[in-house]
Amino acid sequence: MGKRTLILGVESSCDETSCAVVTDGQQVLSNAVASQIDLHARFGGVVPEIASRAHIEAVNTVFAQAMDQAGATPADIAAVAVTCEPGLIGSLLVGLMAAKTVAWVYDVPLIGVNHVYAHAYAAALNAEPIEYPAAALICSGGHTALYRCVSPLEMELLGSTIDDAAGEAFDKVANILGLGYPGGPAIDRMGQRGDPNTVRFPRSLLSGQSLDFSFSGIKTAVLYHINGVPGGRKPHPEGKGRRRRGPTAQRMESQPNAGRGIEHFTPGEVADVAASFQAAVVDVLRIKLRRAARAIGARTLVLGGGVAANSALREALSHLADQLGATLRMPEMRFCMDNAAMIAGLGYHYLQAGKLDDLSLTAHATVRR
Ligand code: KG4
Ligand code: ZN
Repeated sequence: MGKRTLILGVESSCDETSCAVVTDGQQVLSNAVASQIDLHARFGGVVPEIASRAHIEAVNTVFAQAMDQAGATPADIAAVAVTCEPGLIGSLLVGLMAAKTVAWVYDVPLIGVNHVYAHAYAAALNAEPIEYPAAALICSGGHTALYRCVSPLEMELLGSTIDDAAGEAFDKVANILGLGYPGGPAIDRMGQRGDPNTVRFPRSLLSGQSLDFSFSGIKTAVLYHINGVPGGRKPHPEGKGRRRRGPTAQRMESQPNAGRGIEHFTPGEVADVAASFQAAVVDVLRIKLRRAARAIGARTLVLGGGVAANSALREALSHLADQLGATLRMPEMRFCMDNAAMIAGLGYHYLQAGKLDDLSLTAHATVRR
């Protein structure tokens, strides 16, 4: 057996500081994560300035943990892979400086990694390689996009959200329902107790064969369902001929307190709204992934990003894969959320391809075209 190639990964694009050591792009030896959720929870979302400072405080410890848990020394590391885009710029810069320092001090190559591409690689960690061509659905707090993947490094964007990301919709709706932050896990838990057929929230599919997404309408529909429609207009159903008339929900009568404010909803009714909202988002994600998979003749469906942890989505997509005769690849739960293992894993393929960066590597808040 040849020598194993160890890559150190560094991730700091949002509110998780993470370092990981991964062997040959596959076996995760360590994946240390310092989450900032507690710091941001009282603001109901990530505060960029607080995030940057927390990354600075955490990064040395997280690096030491990752090396320790992997039983590795810097001399064992073949390269440092770091998230350089997209993300919060102040946060990205902290991880990038840490990675540059390691690369410079220990004289190893530096590799800049796109965070969203890395989410599409997460399903290959501690698992078999992904078979291509694959249709990848990446949905997180900051992104919702579909890609055609022909290798870990070659990703073609097929469509993305024109407004909110799916995870953002989960977070905002959880806020409307008083379920706290982050909203995705809370709605997932609540939704398991509710009836997804209680309220028919709109499914925004956009035109014809569009592979773009829009989630701002459904968020507004939930808001109207809870607080009532502004101006006191009667909500009208989503059914045929009504679609263009705005984000409203059907079967309001099944929730007698609809429109009267969240304080009038019983916990059971909140669970029904959570389940109904989740069902609508999952429907849209499933339908768009099906369109993409058919369009590119995918043999594999790949799921990634924080929303990939959603139980209803995982179940719906495993049915879809069966229907399409495709293989569904989903990351382990811990690799759905932001983590450095996926950065190190993908970094290995950049190293193999000789695609290296130098110390002039910069961070970008949005993806360079
Ligand atoms: O990938 P990620 O950790 O960070 C970004 O790159 O944005 O994703 C975080 C997002 C949050 O919006 C969170 O609410 C959502 O993923 N999320 C979930 C679940 N777990 C996390 N959404 C739905 N269901 C879940 N179980
Ligand atoms: Zn992410």
